[in-house]
Amino acid sequence: MHGMDGYLTMRQARRMVEANEFDENDIVVDVGSGFGGFLVELSKQVAFKNPLIGIELVDGLVEFTKTRLRKEGIKNIRIIKGSALELNKLIDKATIINVGWIIKHIDDDELITFLKAAFDVLEPGGKLFIFEFAPKTMSKMAHRAFHALKLRTNEEIASILESIGFEGIKQNRYAKYWIPVGKLSLTAIKP
Ligand SMILES: C[S@@+](CC[C@H](N)C(=O)[O-])C[C@H]1O[C@@H](n2cnc3c(N)ncnc32)[C@H](O)[C@@H]1O
Repeated sequence: MHGMDGYLTMRQARRMVEANEFDENDIVVDVGSGFGGFLVELSKQVAFKNPLIGIELVDGLVEFTKTRLRKEGIKNIRIIKGSALELNKLIDKATIINVGWIIKHIDDDELITFLKAAFDVLEPGGKLFIFEFAPKTMSKMAHRAFHALKLRTNEEIASILESIGFEGIKQNRYAKYWIPVGKLSLTAIKP
């Protein structure tokens, strides 16, 4: 386990498995794979036939996770160094794209670039899962930590997803949050 983030994303992976979101033929991509918490847990829960893919921007986290996977003998996860905004240049296709706690750091143009790239690489019927903090009345402490970030509502993101062509957009209950902020948890399907 690697800190609270890893623990929460492991729980998120388990909840998604329990809800039958995955099939062993899926091509799963975690955008912003961090320490690999989500992917490692998922790889233990489902016997995927294709390697799971992590996209991570930060060199240190890419190296850390590669080392961790080697040490733990986990062979079916690949970590690619790169940005969410270039997802369609980094991978050819996916049937599941998971993205957690990145989009508060990017502006609206970048968000659209990323979501369009995700739409491009998803196979028909493929699913996108987006998790992030949403705006809400916050404690003073949370407000200080969050004032510089771009928090968006489920409705705002749903409308962008719809304009790009996603369907079946709905809120899910997979994410756990460790602070009292609003919850952005969406599932969207590429038709
Ligand atoms: C909260 S962590 C996600 C945790 C991870 N999914 C897990 O399973 O534990 C967010 C990660 O996204 C990475 N990140 C932030 N912006 C990114 C971008 N534009 N492209 C790729 N990765 C990014 C951060 O470096 C960080 O490791």
